Order: sequence, then structure tokens, then C-alpha cells
Amino acid sequence: MEVVHDLGRWRDSAQATRARGRVVGLVPTMGALHEGHLALVHAARERGDVVFLTIFVNPRQFGDAADLARYPRTLEADQALAESVGVDVLVVPSLDEMWPDYPRDTMTSVHVTGLGDVLEGEGRPGHFAGVASVVAKLFAVTGPCRAYFGEKDYQQVAVVRQMVRDLALPVDVVDVPVVRDADGLALSSRNGRLSAHGRVQALALSRAIASAARRSAPASVLRAAMRAELARAELEVAYAEIVDPLTLQPLDDGARGAARALVAGVVEGVRLIDNGPVTLGQEE
Ligand code: PAF
Repeated sequence: MEVVHDLGRWRDSAQATRARGRVVGLVPTMGALHEGHLALVHAARERGDVVFLTIFVNPRQFGDAADLARYPRTLEADQALAESVGVDVLVVPSLDEMWPDYPRDTMTSVHVTGLGDVLEGEGRPGHFAGVASVVAKLFAVTGPCRAYFGEKDYQQVAVVRQMVRDLALPVDVVDVPVVRDADGLALSSRNGRLSAHGRVQALALSRAIASAARRSAPASVLRAAMRAELARAELEVAYAEIVDPLTLQPLDDGARGAARALVAGVVEGVRLIDNGPVTLGQEE
């Protein structure tokens, strides 16, 4: 596995890969790798891509300095794990290379309006501008590629897809299903910060999604089922919504067919999210 720190070598390596007639499979991460990230690598390898996995804890997507400081950094373990699953190029750029002017506010920012302002965007102002800006830069340096994102961050995938479409970026976005622990909790680098009790509380998020996915009913009925499930766990609920799977706008009881359930909550100071597909139908 090649380990690259500088932007020039990363760009050249991607270019050389394409010159050999191969597809670059980009797996953007912030490190603290877990099975959810490895599923992205497996998906890229299954398609025969040459896998470039990036690790960069992007300060511009954290509103809260304490949250950024607490974010797990486990580079040595990440490197071993990346190698063990067949990553070809591990890209670990420095803050200086990625954002030479950080933290000045004269920096270019990519803001996907609408999609980036609701749900997580409402609770974490500036978050998706930080994500879209860094992902745009990862795409710019890598060049034409397939890029893999986990569906656990459903809104993030929607924002990235919209950006790719609007800016005609030469990137094929592939989303990979949520990976869960045996108890149902969606894998996240933040789960490690939960106590045993917090983890039990956090399970209410996946239970809420399961309660909405279990049946076909009007949006308000599914929303109420999710909220009841979350209320039982006494966690701090940020939102529990049934939305249009493409626009992420809340749906009313007239809507029918495929929709998405999204929830977010705070457990022991850790913000967690989950989501899943649901079907809107008549009251049973
Ligand atoms: O999902 C993440 O880990 C991050 O938001 C991403 C896409 C790597 C951008 O920093």
C-alpha cells in the first residue's frame, strides 16, 4: 500500500492509475476506521477499482471546537486496517495542504442550498458547507473517479450528489448500505464515546427507524411511531422525520410510496444519526 501525504503525488498517482486504464475508487474518510468504512472499500474492490482511501479530519465541518478536539484519531490502527482490506493508496494530507488559509474566513466555500440547510444542516449550521467544500477538494485533486459514501450519512450523500450534478464534476457517486452492529446500532466513529448505558439509550435510534419501516402508513403515523420509540429512551431528540428521499422535504399524509425516515439524537453529548427506507400508504 502506497502512503501519500502531498497533493501533487496524490494527483499524479490517480492520473497514473487512469493512464493504466483503471478506475480510481475514492473512499473519503476522517479516519477511526470501522466496518462501515471497510464496506466502502469492499464495494470499490468488487467493482475492480484501484482504491484510494483518504483520511482527513476536516475542521471546517465541525461547528463545535470541543467536538473537533474529541474526534478520534487512530492513524496507526487505520493504516494497518486499510492495508489488511486491500487499499491501494492511503492518502493522509496535512491541514496545511488541504486548507492553507485555515482558519481565515476568506476561503472558498461550497454551499448546497436547500439540501444542506435542513435536518442535520439546521442543527449544525455550516456543517454541510464544510463537507461539500472538502469533498469538492478531494474530487478536484483526485480527478475523474468513482466515490463511495455510506448511506448512514444519507443527507451527506444527497448533498454530494447535488454538488456533483450542479458542478458537472467527473465523479460517479456510489452509496453503500448502512452497516450495523448485531444489536442494530449503526456503526459510527462516535459510538466509541458512549458508555454502556449510553449505548443502550442510543439503540432507540435504530429501533425508531425499524418501527417506521415495519409497516406502510401515512407519514404522521410513522413519525409518531418513531417519536414514541425515542421518548421511551429519554434521549435528547434533534429530529425524527419522514421526508422525500430526494428533496429531503417533510412529507404530509397525502404522500404515498417510497420515503425516508431520518432521526438524530444526542446521547451523553454525542450526536448520533440513523435512517432507513420506509413506505407511505393508507392507515392499516
Ligand atoms: O463522512 C465523513 O467521514 C466526512 O464527512 C467526509 C465525507 C470524509 C468529509 O470530511
